[in-house]
Amino acid sequence: MEACIPETFRNGTVLVTGSTGFLGKILVEKILRACPIKKIAIIVRNKKGINANQRVADIYKQAVYDRLRIEKPDFMDLIKIIEGNLEDSSMGLITAHRDWIIENVNFVFHCAATIKFNETLESASKINILGTEKLLSLATQMKNLKGFVHVSTAYSHCPKNEIKEQYYPVPITAKELKNMFGLDDSTPRILEDWPNTYCFTKAIAENLVLINGIHLPISVFRPSIIGCTKSEPDPGWLENMNGPSAIVAGVMTGFLRTVPIVRNKITDIVPADYTVNALISVMWDTANRYQDSNLINQEPKIYNYVSSVESPLLWGRYIEEMNGHYHEAPPLQSVWYMFCIFYTHLWIGKILRFLLHRIPAALVDFLLIVCGKSPKMLKMYVKTECMIDLLYVFTTRQWKFDNSNTRELWSLLSQDDRNTFWYSLEEFDWASYIKVYFYGIRNHVLHEELSNVDTATVKNRKLFWLHQLCISVIIYVTFQVCWTFL
Ligand SMILES: NC(=O)c1ccc[n+]([C@@H]2O[C@H](COP(=O)([O-])OP(=O)(O)OC[C@H]3O[C@@H](n4cnc5c(N)ncnc54)[C@H](OP(=O)(O)O)[C@@H]3O)[C@@H](O)[C@H]2O)c1
Repeated sequence: MEACIPETFRNGTVLVTGSTGFLGKILVEKILRACPIKKIAIIVRNKKGINANQRVADIYKQAVYDRLRIEKPDFMDLIKIIEGNLEDSSMGLITAHRDWIIENVNFVFHCAATIKFNETLESASKINILGTEKLLSLATQMKNLKGFVHVSTAYSHCPKNEIKEQYYPVPITAKELKNMFGLDDSTPRILEDWPNTYCFTKAIAENLVLINGIHLPISVFRPSIIGCTKSEPDPGWLENMNGPSAIVAGVMTGFLRTVPIVRNKITDIVPADYTVNALISVMWDTANRYQDSNLINQEPKIYNYVSSVESPLLWGRYIEEMNGHYHEAPPLQSVWYMFCIFYTHLWIGKILRFLLHRIPAALVDFLLIVCGKSPKMLKMYVKTECMIDLLYVFTTRQWKFDNSNTRELWSLLSQDDRNTFWYSLEEFDWASYIKVYFYGIRNHVLHEELSNVDTATVKNRKLFWLHQLCISVIIYVTFQVCWTFL
């Protein structure tokens, strides 16, 4: 009989890349809290003049580790910091660290990636493809490797409408792509139907796992859009402005008044803590499957982790539920009363943006100049609208996913493992999750405490009447102009 999930990790050494990112932070937290490991090694790069050790020391002071600090006060003793950068040759590892990894590591979670949609093809390839290639090569030397999970994305093959748990052909191999570095003007041709360099490089990296990972106990894990945590270690935790969080924060504060969304399309969001539980379960399954070494040389299994199969959520419902919570606790830093017009067609979007973003922004900038200050609103809108354009494909399209492997894995988990590593999204309670999501954005993205709700509500009433007044003036002026000229 297979050991339960924590037993599989007992006294094991885990290597995590991307541990300083959104997913990696919760992954490390959960492994440390729920699995009796011997060591967790994290590969961290120096960044903005701060070295890896200092970065880690700062990160583990964050509130997301409060629960761990209580439950496992000595958890820092279990962490081994390894300075490294996936872009550097040999991943920037010193020989002693490389040897230590080869000798000791049993499980590899490869989460590191650049997830910027507008990264140049060369930069995205260096991290997402060549970084993966280097890690796979290191993994082949690991003396006691039991499992390797490569974290990809459910949208790696987003040009397709239906995405199964299988490998699809890619237009170019990693090797061919490497030869084209420096030729950035060829990017649109290389990308073919892919909407951005992120999804494209993730697709090529999967292909690399298929080819180079064939001798390894390896799987590919593909989550869809990772939202805030549902409950662990804290409800509503999130830190970056991924996916819908950025749009919601912009709309909540009255900054964004028009965005491209098709209300009757599915938005495929999965909670971050559930995602981590699914990821750990995939590692458990991978290690179990490959215990029988005859399986090596088989195509690595893919697990799509999505919500749309079992509990589809429409954009329309997501928006309405968020709207309800907005009225309970509007943000204090709102620049206007929340209202938003949704569009699908790009040219309609251009007109709406001009009327609802650019004209008000130009007026504010004019006032700022009159007051002797530097104008900034138009610049902010240009930047934000560029970001929204990058998300367009994900807010106006939907995909049909298959997640049979992930569901089959759920059926293999014992009741105890299910309780500790719950990830099933069957009959998922979206209403309570969206509430948690709303307050998560308010707290972690907008950095507003609940104690300001009364003041914020008073301000919101004033913004409401100002909004009504503006609409009345606009209607009156339009009417007068029509009366004069028609
Ligand atoms: N977020 C989502 O909605 C989502 C959805 C589907 C799949 N995924 C996948 O989940 C994984 C984690 O995503 P995330 O949301 O946690 O992204 P994230 O917050 O941007 O974190 C990315 C992580 O990768 C590390 N990294 C980037 N370049 C590196 C390099 N050259 N060398 C070493 N480390 C490097 C970053 O380190 P620094 O701190 O040094 O920058 C960071 O720890 C990715 O593989 C992504 O494709 C994410």
